[in-house]
Amino acid sequence: MARILITSGPTRQYLDPVRYLTNSSSGKMGSALAGAALNLGHQVVVVTGPVDLKYPSEAEVRQVLTTDEMLATCQREFPACDGLIGAAAPCDYMPTSVSSQKISKTGESLKLELWETPDVVATLGATKRANQWTVGFALETEDPHFRAITKLERKSCDLIVLNGPEAMTSDRNSIELLDPQGRTLLECEGAKTEIAKQIMDMVERQLIEKAKCSTNA
Ligand code: C5P
Repeated sequence: MARILITSGPTRQYLDPVRYLTNSSSGKMGSALAGAALNLGHQVVVVTGPVDLKYPSEAEVRQVLTTDEMLATCQREFPACDGLIGAAAPCDYMPTSVSSQKISKTGESLKLELWETPDVVATLGATKRANQWTVGFALETEDPHFRAITKLERKSCDLIVLNGPEAMTSDRNSIELLDPQGRTLLECEGAKTEIAKQIMDMVERQLIEKAKCSTNA
């Protein structure tokens, strides 16, 4: 049995008390992965941004709002976990200043200055201890294999799931699971629940069982 941390859903970065930047993400892939991992007998901790769905009741769910909060919560949970699956779509930019009052319209254009937010998967990947593993997602619209492998390396992932923009908010998905050598371990299309099962079967074989063997060696 492994303890698996799953990030899921979008995060928000507020400009003022009512307006925010976010990413399009339903949390459906994260929820399906949580269900598939639980069905294999694993413990699951889900760190999620605001979504309209319910995660499986056996999962431990931690709610967050911003990317910084998602990172801080994951940093608290990750040391006690065997691995991470980063299925969230954290907001990549935050305003350099946040107004405490609602910004009033003036009839003029409004200029926003943005900073990049921290990358949760990359930050946790850089702190992995022996036998801990991370799986990232890459949503690409051009040169998908090259970009996904570059992302896998930059974020120190052990595997990466490549999908396209049609995955957003849909109940279905079409994915490839790539390893650090750029090999396609899995290619499938269908309901997110079915895809999650196949991803988890491969994670079990490629990462969880191998980690168990080297711990026992
Ligand atoms: O760079 P990009 O956003 O395409 O990378 C996607 C992967 O990185 C996903 O696994 C996503 O959960 C993760 N990510 C993250 N923190 C961010 C941005 C992306 O963990 N700030």
